[in-house]
Amino acid sequence: MSAVWRRYHEATKHTVERLRRSRHFLDWANMPDPFRHYEGAPVVDLPADAPAPLCGALEALRGGLGRPNARDGAEFLSQLLFHTAAISATRVVAATGHRYALRVNPSSGNLHPTEFHFATRGLKGWPDGLYHYRPSSHMAEQRATGDWVSGLGLEAPLVFVLTTIAWREAWKYQSRAYRYCCHDMGHAWEALNLAARACGYGTRARGDFRDDELSRMLGVTDEWAMLVVAVDCEAKGTAIRERRWTGGTPNRLSEEIVPYPLIEEVHEAGRELTGERWEQRAGAAEHSYKDDEPFAVVARRRRSALDFRGGERSITLEQLRTLLEAAGRGGFVDPWAYVHRVEGMEPGLYRSNLELVRREDQRVVAAGLSLGQDLAGNSCVTFSMIADLERATALHGERGYRYAHFEAGAIGQRLYIAAEAMGFQSTGIGAFYDDAVHRYLELEQGQVIYHFACGYAVKDERLGPVDHD
Ligand SMILES: Cc1cc2nc3c(=O)[nH]c(=O)nc-3n(C[C@H](O)[C@H](O)[C@H](O)COP(=O)(O)O)c2cc1C
Repeated sequence: MSAVWRRYHEATKHTVERLRRSRHFLDWANMPDPFRHYEGAPVVDLPADAPAPLCGALEALRGGLGRPNARDGAEFLSQLLFHTAAISATRVVAATGHRYALRVNPSSGNLHPTEFHFATRGLKGWPDGLYHYRPSSHMAEQRATGDWVSGLGLEAPLVFVLTTIAWREAWKYQSRAYRYCCHDMGHAWEALNLAARACGYGTRARGDFRDDELSRMLGVTDEWAMLVVAVDCEAKGTAIRERRWTGGTPNRLSEEIVPYPLIEEVHEAGRELTGERWEQRAGAAEHSYKDDEPFAVVARRRRSALDFRGGERSITLEQLRTLLEAAGRGGFVDPWAYVHRVEGMEPGLYRSNLELVRREDQRVVAAGLSLGQDLAGNSCVTFSMIADLERATALHGERGYRYAHFEAGAIGQRLYIAAEAMGFQSTGIGAFYDDAVHRYLELEQGQVIYHFACGYAVKDERLGPVDHD
């Protein structure tokens, strides 16, 4: 079997030498717009006063379903997207006074490569059609009317297609950016799963489809379809079957698009559907939880810590266990833990079942391996997510490379929400010295694909309330 993914992965590993040799600089004048608009497409308002979902954050994480409380399709879509992908804060750049938006779903470099498209069929009071979510103003752009669910590969009254715009990430992270696009996709997917569950409905996801057919159907050019997510909500209205294109022209994101052949190549290789189907389902809960903050509050308060208050508070062993439970097992990814400050635990390196592998202070090592980022040492615990990429690609062909990264992103999203629900914070870390991690963990197989840190965040003085355009 050819292994484009292996070449890509090796070529995009961070090493001290490669970073030193890099001549890359950020071309601010050419920074891609993080907001996509389909200009000229009719926009449909999502009501500002939609009710908050009725579900605890930990309950949603454990597969619980909230009690549906939206009165119609518009309210449902509004509450779902408001807790999945909307703007949730702004940050001010002190030197210039410039403000930029932060969203419910996190994104490497806040560059937001993921776009949310969705098709609806029979939602009460909402015209059937194909839409694109416009987070900058919390509105839906109607790209077509009629039944666009048929042909997406999953049947439900509401089906999302998540796409990625690789250039947005490549502008900053160059060839390594494809990894981050896939992580971001995983975060967005899990943000959507959790919000759907909090609103009362389970989801199903598929990653295997004919990329080109889906892109053609969505009428996208610079966006790559990566995931289809069905939301099993109720349909009450009448369905309009006949399709009519209302279109819209995609806004230009930057003056120039710099090509990254390694990204094109690994994505292209993943187009082939040679392996097993990749389908995921969000489960149902068996418990209900006391002292659980509302999901609506936790999801919108979630922020990445800029750094952690090292040397101060610890988390408890029970909290660490809850994090690991939220992270989940199975699939292709296994998190190892650099434990810095967890009550009742010796600082050390642990496997995901909390088996102690190295008994010693891990702060310098965790920060050093994370490209010298202090936050990985100042946290209470930092994770290295180790993926069995050989197994993922043996099962799913080249496309398995995407799936393993989606999974790591989804785990990250659950960690963000779990930590926030327990009163502390997190940060995803895409930058690490790959092979140095492997050597330190003495791995015989597997590749590190994501780092993630949890602890008590330092205060971010530059955060402000939401701005809409
Ligand atoms: C895949 C991924 C990788 C990230 N890598 C880093 C990193 O290496 N260092 C860092 O400080 N933050 C990292 N972040 C955090 C982002 O910078 C953060 O999500 C973004 O600025 C948006 O802020 P928010 O999460 O508060 O919405 C990463 C986030 C994601 C999703």
